Amino acid sequence: MSRWLRRTPGATRPRIEFGADYNPEQWPREVWAEDVALMREAGVTVATVGVFSWARLQPAPERWDLGWLDEVLDLLHDGGIAVDLATATASPPPWLHHLHPEILPVDADGRTVWPGGRQHYRPTSPVFRRYALELVERMARRYGGHPALAAWHVSNELGCHNVADHSPDAERAFRDWLAHRYGDLDALNRAWGTSFWSQHYGDWSEIRTPRRVGPGTFPNPTQQLDFARFGSDALRAETAVLRELTPDVPVTTNFMVMGETSGMDYASWTDEIDIVANDHYVFPGPHARDELSFSANLTGNLAGGAPWWLMEHSTSAVNWQPVNRAKRPGRLAGDSLTHLAHGADAVCYFQWRQSVAGAEKFHSAMLPHAGADSAVFRAVTGLGATLAGLAPVAGARRVPARAAILWDWPSWWAAEQPFTPSTELRYKAEAFGWYRAFADAGVRVDVVPAGAGLAGYELVVAPVLHVLGPERAAELSAFVDGGGHLVATYFSGIVDDDAHAVPGGYPGALRDLLGVRVEEFAPLDPGATVLLDDGSTGDLWSEPVQLVDPAVEVLARYTGGGTDPGAPDLAGSPAVTRRPVGTGSASYVSTRLADRAPLLGRLLRRAGIAPELPGELCGRVELVRREGFRFLVNRGDTPVDLAPLGEIGSLAGLPTGVLPPHGVTVLTDVPGDAVTRSSAPR
Ligand code: GLA
Repeated sequence: MSRWLRRTPGATRPRIEFGADYNPEQWPREVWAEDVALMREAGVTVATVGVFSWARLQPAPERWDLGWLDEVLDLLHDGGIAVDLATATASPPPWLHHLHPEILPVDADGRTVWPGGRQHYRPTSPVFRRYALELVERMARRYGGHPALAAWHVSNELGCHNVADHSPDAERAFRDWLAHRYGDLDALNRAWGTSFWSQHYGDWSEIRTPRRVGPGTFPNPTQQLDFARFGSDALRAETAVLRELTPDVPVTTNFMVMGETSGMDYASWTDEIDIVANDHYVFPGPHARDELSFSANLTGNLAGGAPWWLMEHSTSAVNWQPVNRAKRPGRLAGDSLTHLAHGADAVCYFQWRQSVAGAEKFHSAMLPHAGADSAVFRAVTGLGATLAGLAPVAGARRVPARAAILWDWPSWWAAEQPFTPSTELRYKAEAFGWYRAFADAGVRVDVVPAGAGLAGYELVVAPVLHVLGPERAAELSAFVDGGGHLVATYFSGIVDDDAHAVPGGYPGALRDLLGVRVEEFAPLDPGATVLLDDGSTGDLWSEPVQLVDPAVEVLARYTGGGTDPGAPDLAGSPAVTRRPVGTGSASYVSTRLADRAPLLGRLLRRAGIAPELPGELCGRVELVRREGFRFLVNRGDTPVDLAPLGEIGSLAGLPTGVLPPHGVTVLTDVPGDAVTRSSAPR
């Protein structure tokens, strides 16, 4: 990581890139010139080309047709638009699966996943790989020196539809991956706990992917976790070819940090790419914009604080919800600028011109069916002008917050497996709940990959940090010993990297640090609640927490006021605790709090972290910082008067008086003004 788009020779001024996926193969040639003219009108600076072009580039195994793409790249270049050129491998052409049906993935029931949609290939298929790499090589050789080429775009949303492949190829590759991880079968048998249910393996060839087993049973949990790790690892092959042939061209691929997409451990991918890129679509719901902020925040921290590329989002409606609504006026810019606030230096959409045919003809675009005389195109053009005015922001890194929420894909996978104390547990919901509590408190927080290091943070929340090996546990202890404040929730520290329960009492690896011990979980029935003596309620989970270290303070106890008749009576038992450790502390939350705000308020005060916004704005406005700039995001559906900030000046003509619903404004840092004054010293 750490590189940025290769710029056209001579273009040195930093800028915020603006653009979209551009699929010219869907349109007759005559339209291309109009596309470039309208792109210029809209302020487009970059287009992602060729994502789904394989069948047009290679119409038959021995036939290549790249002339049209030469023309498109030249046209874009002449129009001053840079190209993010896809390797075009995302959707194999019909001749390939016709000739080689053995590239088609297989689902957990052993059924072939048929072509007709897209991404119908086995990531581990040597046949697919051979054809794909031949295409990649051809693209790299032909276009590596093209002046429009700004970056390589590997495939598209790797793993979106094919991460869990159970084909014979996947099985072979899984065994190789396991052999590499464990070295020998004894180690694998130990890690997988195969003494259980007579699962001992005597030969590598006996190992399968975790296909669907009989009703009421469930494949080995460590096998499941390793299969998820393997699936995430198996998706990358094209980068090496590009690096070898065009070392000076940066490489990216679009992540899907959004919603409930969980298949890929992106924290383990970032070393292989030069630019972190993400696709984000808004999922309807009362907290949709906070979810956007959460995903953008995590993406920015996957990028290590460096600028990243918002590769796709939508100008208006998508086409894959049950009901697809247009975005309200102002949301197009509000959504884009919220990503920018969290570090995006490129703001791109799916797609440039709305398709008239194919599966996505009802998905919005920069240039909609209605044409250039439309509210969407006017909003796009307006945003293009705004982004041009925000050029000074380009290159500015995220300013780290004092607090962090740890994010861990293996914990997501393992905590939501079946055969756990409650299948109602939702990993992301717990992390997101804390994120919203920070936002409500007006305190900035970073969502950071759990292995990224805790240096600089003063308060760290570990929501359901379920998988916790000894090294990471030691890092958390060192953080607390160094004066840091840790907050861990229920079901954290429970299993090690092999998904083995840490014996001796829960919360396993964190037991000593937290100074508490739990012998049995007490999950709650769906909808049932427990009442705590500080007036808060919890649901989903409860625990009879015993205090082990006498120094542990009880911040809240369970009362007898629960609504689950089957749950144990925990009246009087500690529910939320805090163990002081030197100047630091380790707190434990043993239930899912309905409202985390009161507890977070106490923890923030004890940690000495104050909001950076005047009180009237806390909760209503999200503050995000990039070096030299502050972004204010209206989180709600009503306008927010920014008067409490006093005299402010914004960039690019963005609002200074009243922030419209979900609107965003960008201010330059002014030392000593209302925002900086109200922030506690670091
Ligand atoms: C994904 C894909 C795009 C398009 C959009 C539609 O992000 O990468 O090709 O299908 O979804 O929302």
